[in-house]
Parts: sequence; C-alpha cells; structure tokens
Amino acid sequence: MSLRLGDKAPDFDALTSEGKINFYNYLGDSWGILFSHPADYTPVCTTELGAVAKYKDEFEKRNTKVLALSVDGVESHKGWIEDINETQNTTVNFPLIADEDKKVANLYDMIHPNADNTLTVRSVYVIGPDKTIKLMISYPASTGRNFEELLRVIDSLQLTAYRKVATPANWKHGEDVVISPSVSNDEAKEMFPKGFKEVRPYLRMTPQPDGDQGKESSKSSNKNASGSDNEASKIFPKGYRE
Ligand code: BEZ
Repeated sequence: MSLRLGDKAPDFDALTSEGKINFYNYLGDSWGILFSHPADYTPVCTTELGAVAKYKDEFEKRNTKVLALSVDGVESHKGWIEDINETQNTTVNFPLIADEDKKVANLYDMIHPNADNTLTVRSVYVIGPDKTIKLMISYPASTGRNFEELLRVIDSLQLTAYRKVATPANWKHGEDVVISPSVSNDEAKEMFPKGFKEVRPYLRMTPQPDGDQGKESSKSSNKNASGSDNEASKIFPKGYRE
C-alpha cells in the first residue's frame, strides 16, 4: 500500500556506506530526509549527493538528519562516494543505503514501474520527530532536485508545526506568513503582537513570529494544534531558528 502524508514512516534496518543502521535510531528525535537515487555512478545523482553534503550546516541548523538510498551495493557506494568527493569538491557526510534487495525502496514506494521497472525514482520523504510523513515528492531520473527548495519546505514545516500559521506561495524564511483560519481576530491580536493585516476575513498576513514567542507561556501561545512545548523542544532543540 502506498504511503500518504500523516502516515507513520515505516521503520527498517539497512546496510549503508557507514555500516548497519536502524532508521528510527538513526533519526532519534530529529527531523529526517530520506531520498532515493536511480543508481550509483550516474551524473545527476553525483551532483545531488555532492550538493546535499555541502548543505550539512543548513540541515544541522534545522535539526534534520539526511539519509540517501540507491539500489547498488556497499562496495559500489564506497567507490562512488570517493568520486563524488573528488568531483564535487566535498565530503559526503551522511549514510547511503545499499538497497540491493529493494526492501526499503519497496517499503517507500520508490520504484514507479511506468517510469522504470527496476530503478528508484528521485523520491524525497521528510519525516517529523514524531516519525510521521510530513512531505513527499517524486522527481523523474532526468531532473536533479533543488535542495534549496527542500530547505525552504523544512522551514515551513517546522514553523507551521509549532505556530498557528501557514506559509504563502513562494514564501521564504523571514517573510510574512498567513494566520490559520481557525484563529479568530481577537485571538490573533494576542498571538501575533507584531500585528496583522486583514486583506480578506480569510486572508490575514502577519510577520513571521519570533523564535521565543509562544514558548513564554501557554496563555499567550500561538502554538499549532499539534504543537506542545515538548514537541517544540524537539523541533528546535537549540531554540527556534531566527
Ligand atoms: C543520473 O543520475 O544522471 C541519471 C540516472 C538515471 C537515469 C538518468 C540520469
């Protein structure tokens, strides 16, 4: 059965370029990205893995662990990683699953037979600290992913997990956000001290809430329905990203 947003992300044990891992143990309390590649020693994948390695600090800032997958074996992965490091001028700093039996690929529906019968497509799963699937995207083999977009989406997922806001089209971290329809104007006045603009009763814009807002007290909290102080401390262990 295919996976959907909000589903529990299936756990698994796997052999990787960095030894055996258990997925849930690897993630711990962090957010996670699981992303697949069609095959080792392929040009687009080489640039993608190099790009992700260069974003190490950005993923760390967002308390997000990265795990890649390709259906080739560990020895192949190790040789390919040397190539990636050399050609992309970086050091691959996350494990690459050697999914030769396609166990994980099948678990996460990463093979789309009408695109290719055997190779995985470029799937991306973002998984929250509660181990549920927050985002899934599929790209064809011929199109390399935009990892800036992935960072942007993680910013939105993390902000909206904790605040009663949503992010508008093309939003980037630091820009104005939309107040959730479930919040009344009276509540919004308390929750969003920077103020808000009512463009329409259903479209209210407010500056992105500050990091320490909502953590101060539950009475002035603008936490999302799914947010709690415990959850927030998992999402933002070093404080909310300013
Ligand atoms: C690539 O990563 O370059 C690639 C892989 C499979 C098919 C086409 C391109």
